[in-house]
Amino acid sequence: MGKLNEMYPMKNLKLRAGSPPLFASALLALCLSTGLEAQAQSMQIPKPSAGLMPNPALGKKLYAANCASCHGADMKGSDKGPSMLHKVYEPSHHGDIAFQLAAKTGVRAHHWNFGDMKPIPTVTPDDVAHITAFVRMEQRQVGIR
Ligand code: HEC
Repeated sequence: MGKLNEMYPMKNLKLRAGSPPLFASALLALCLSTGLEAQAQSMQIPKPSAGLMPNPALGKKLYAANCASCHGADMKGSDKGPSMLHKVYEPSHHGDIAFQLAAKTGVRAHHWNFGDMKPIPTVTPDDVAHITAFVRMEQRQVGIR
C-alpha cells in the first residue's frame, strides 16, 4: 500500500477529490438548481405588498368568489378540485409561495386527477395572501398545521 501511494501520489489525490459523496452532492445541487430554484428565478414569484396584514375574514370572501368553485365552499373539494384541508396542503409542504404561484401561473396536475388548475387572473398577490390566511385558519381548525 505504502509503496503504491508513493508511486502515484497525484492519482490518489485526484481520486479523493472526486469521491462519490462529493459527486453526489454536486449532482443533487444541480438537480435542485435546474428544478425548483431555476423555476423560482426565471419566474417572478408574486409578492404581497410590504407590510400587508393578511386578513382571514377578507380572505374568506375572496376565496368564495375565486376558489370555492373548485376547492369547495367548505374547502373540502369538488369534482373540479381537491380539498384544501388535506394534509398534503399543510404549510410545510405547500407554503404560502405555492398559493401565489398557483394563482399566478396555475398548477399542473400532479397530486390528483382533476386536471390542471388554470391561472386565476382575477386575484392580486394581496388577495392571495388574504385567501392563504383564511385557508391556514381553516386548516388549523382541523388539525393541519
Ligand atoms: C377551475 C378549478 C380551480 C379553481 C377555480 C382554483 N383551483 Fe386551485 N387547484 C385546482 C386543481 C385541480 C388543483 C390540483 C392540481 C394537482 O395537484 O393535481 C389545484 C391546486 C391548488 C393548489 C396546490 C398547488 C400545488 O403547488 O400543488 C393551491 C395552493 C391552489 N390550488 C390554490 C387555489 C386558490 C388560492 C384559488 C383561488 C384564487 C384556486 N386554487 C382556484 C383547481 C382549481
